[in-house]
Amino acid sequence: MKVIQVGIGGMGNAWLHAVQKSEVVDFAGFVEINKDIARRQAEAYGLDAAQIYPSLPTALEAVAADAVINVTPPQFHREVTVCALEAGLPVMQEKPLAGNLEDARAIAAAAEATGVLCSVGQNYRYLPLSQTIKNILDSGELGAVAALNVAFFKGPHFGGFREAMAHPLIVDMAIHHFDAMRYFLGSDAATISARSWNPPWSWYAGDASAAVHIGFANGAQASYTGSWCSQAQETTWNGNWRFECERGVLLVEDDRAYVQKLLRVGEGPGALVNVHDDRREAPLVHMERMAQDYLLAEFYDAVTRGRSTGTSAQDNIKTMELVFGIVRACDSGEPITL
Ligand SMILES: NC(=O)c1ccc[n+]([C@@H]2O[C@H](COP(=O)([O-])OP(=O)(O)OC[C@H]3O[C@@H](n4cnc5c(N)ncnc54)[C@H](O)[C@@H]3O)[C@@H](O)[C@H]2O)c1
Repeated sequence: MKVIQVGIGGMGNAWLHAVQKSEVVDFAGFVEINKDIARRQAEAYGLDAAQIYPSLPTALEAVAADAVINVTPPQFHREVTVCALEAGLPVMQEKPLAGNLEDARAIAAAAEATGVLCSVGQNYRYLPLSQTIKNILDSGELGAVAALNVAFFKGPHFGGFREAMAHPLIVDMAIHHFDAMRYFLGSDAATISARSWNPPWSWYAGDASAAVHIGFANGAQASYTGSWCSQAQETTWNGNWRFECERGVLLVEDDRAYVQKLLRVGEGPGALVNVHDDRREAPLVHMERMAQDYLLAEFYDAVTRGRSTGTSAQDNIKTMELVFGIVRACDSGEPITL
């Protein structure tokens, strides 16, 4: 499969690596609007500089391709992805599906109308930790999930588009955690209440901190607190999670997963005290490929077999509705029903 990668700086590095490592996907060409980045990346990755074009329509005229990888900033996702879908080329596109809900709906509608696959890079689903959580919850050993808490605190100084966004934490980062909630619970958000704020020392123009409550359609209640301008004691990128389940608790701390199960309610003196087994650390599942490598292999498989992926635009629009529902709840101060 020959692909055109649009956007080769920043996160484009992860996709350049993934394609160069792949035995079945190769480059037809590239699109990059920044000439310095184009020159630097051509040198760093041994790319043919003559195959780096200034726009996708120009690249499509010049080279024959089977698919497009879109790694541009969110405000360009609609233009690039819809252009590719309308040319009949499947798209592997970085999250978020788009920078706003209107663009995201237009992309999902274009994927639906053309019948061409648009798969979204929700790579946090495809990490050993996430797969371990998913396996434990799906095994049923802990029973139903009634509630989950997520805490995420980091302080990255990225520069660039994130520092100008209105809701950088929610739209660019916590989107991975909200998408993971949908994935782990197998359910979609129904109600939202949320507050966001920008700490006085924040280096972001928009709100870098938030507290969010989500009621899922299956009854599970999720609370999320996070900040992207925390000054110390950071969590991992996955954050810390606690799943309150019918027969025990699944705890995720510092990228390690722990399970503790209820054995019985105690009897005799000290009665009514829950008796548990010893907390055990769950070994992380082994994955041959993870993150962008997994997404690329899944995309290749879907395109060549005429299938969809786990994170198609038609599925991902529900993550976008959740994310922009949270933004609406923050901006209005009112609870939202989706
Ligand atoms: N999945 C993840 O974990 C993850 C991590 C980081 C970024 N991302 C996503 O990747 C996307 C890109 O983010 P980034 O951090 O790489 O941004 P960036 O600004 O660092 O890099 C974007 C690149 O695209 C180029 N570009 C911009 N507009 C273009 C256009 N119209 N056509 C061609 N090239 C264009 C830029 O010159 C730059 O090289 C965003 O949607 C971001 O949310 C995902």
